[in-house]
Amino acid sequence: MRAISIIKSEHKNLGAVLYSLDKLIEEIDSGKHPDFGIFHGLFTYLDRFLDRYHHPKENHYLFPKLLLRAPDTEGIIRELGQQHTEGEILFVEMLKALSAYEFTGAAEFPHFRDTVLRYTDFERRHAQKEEDEILPRARDALEASDWEEIDAAFEANDDPIFGTRWNNEFSEMLNQLINRLPAPLGLGDDWK
Ligand SMILES: [Fe+2]
Ligand SMILES: [Fe+2]
Repeated sequence: MRAISIIKSEHKNLGAVLYSLDKLIEEIDSGKHPDFGIFHGLFTYLDRFLDRYHHPKENHYLFPKLLLRAPDTEGIIRELGQQHTEGEILFVEMLKALSAYEFTGAAEFPHFRDTVLRYTDFERRHAQKEEDEILPRARDALEASDWEEIDAAFEANDDPIFGTRWNNEFSEMLNQLINRLPAPLGLGDDWK
């Protein structure tokens, strides 16, 4: 059942990244010059971790096992699976909007802002729904043999920002960003 705490801690880390994106948008809204490197770093995180590890492991391990043990969860599992796909589509829109903003200029900021805020709201609600509606059911319905497989899959994850294996692939800029996050998300107090 260790996968439950891994999923929750991955959601917490995701929450820190979504919070950062919202705050970066807020800063530009109030006149600060955009730091495109930070956006690229955070987007790379979302692409490499959320869409390549976290969501596929929910799709391939957690959801099918739960469906088997608790068939009444079919509707919510289908909805959450569709949200994984929808989130990837919103992500691509946000990435395109970033390119347009970076290379065209301030006129593209409102569109970029809208895509970011739509994405952060969407992914935040998605993770909350899983914590409210799926994890408690999984805790009750799955058996020890189910958890062995699910735990092994999630334990093999390594978070590119918050984990250890990927540290060198991400810039010092990202570390600085995390240091700016207020507690309990990070160490800093810039955004308190
Ligand atoms: Fe999910
Ligand atoms: Fe999740």
